Amino acid sequence: MTVVLPPTPLFGTPVEQPPHPDVLDFLARRRSSSAVTLAEPAPRPDEVTALIALASRVPDHGKLSPWRFIILDSEGKAAFAAKLEALAEARGDPRAAAKLVKLKLPPIGIAVVSRTVQHEIPEWEQVLSAGAVCTTLLYAALALGYGANWITDWYAYDAQAKAALGLAESERVAGFILLGTPKEPPLERERPDPAALTTLWRP
Ligand SMILES: Cc1cc2nc3c(=O)[nH]c(=O)nc-3n(C[C@H](O)[C@H](O)[C@H](O)COP(=O)(O)O)c2cc1C
Repeated sequence: MTVVLPPTPLFGTPVEQPPHPDVLDFLARRRSSSAVTLAEPAPRPDEVTALIALASRVPDHGKLSPWRFIILDSEGKAAFAAKLEALAEARGDPRAAAKLVKLKLPPIGIAVVSRTVQHEIPEWEQVLSAGAVCTTLLYAALALGYGANWITDWYAYDAQAKAALGLAESERVAGFILLGTPKEPPLERERPDPAALTTLWRP
């Protein structure tokens, strides 16, 4: 069955914003799955399209869309991982090769690419928007019932790895969002105390 999203509101029309207690419940309990626990079934192509559509609705100052998506389906991801393996091997870096397990095991992934432009909107804000894309993609995948993990690892930063992925020199990997079905439920991790991170501003 094809995933059906609510219709996208028409430009300029009022969009009602009702409360969504179910979303609060989701946010209070959601958890990434370790990438190495992600297996088939993966989101289908129509679901990937839906995830990308949802992730493209993030706050974006100036409507610049300073990000893009690269789908790493099983074939593409295997070929990309093979290129990274060859890079790691050529450098005699077994630790780098071992790190690739997180990319190789999940059935599919989506690379979120930050592509900032010279503009009056500060670059920082364009980068933050790419981070919001990653978060939304992750949350949308969980809401669809899949497991997901946002990773970067060395190949997000390595010039040759980025070129192998097809990035221009000015582009950066905001994250690889790896997707699948967790073989086991993730264990809750330690969370910060929000009160310890919060102050009330006074002049
Ligand atoms: C920008 C960014 C990069 C990350 N890169 C990695 C990574 O390379 N390897 C890793 O194990 N976790 C990485 N993480 C951490 C996981 O994505 C995730 O935050 C952590 O497992 C906790 O997940 P949860 O709070 O969604 O449950 C990264 C997180 C962020 C925000």
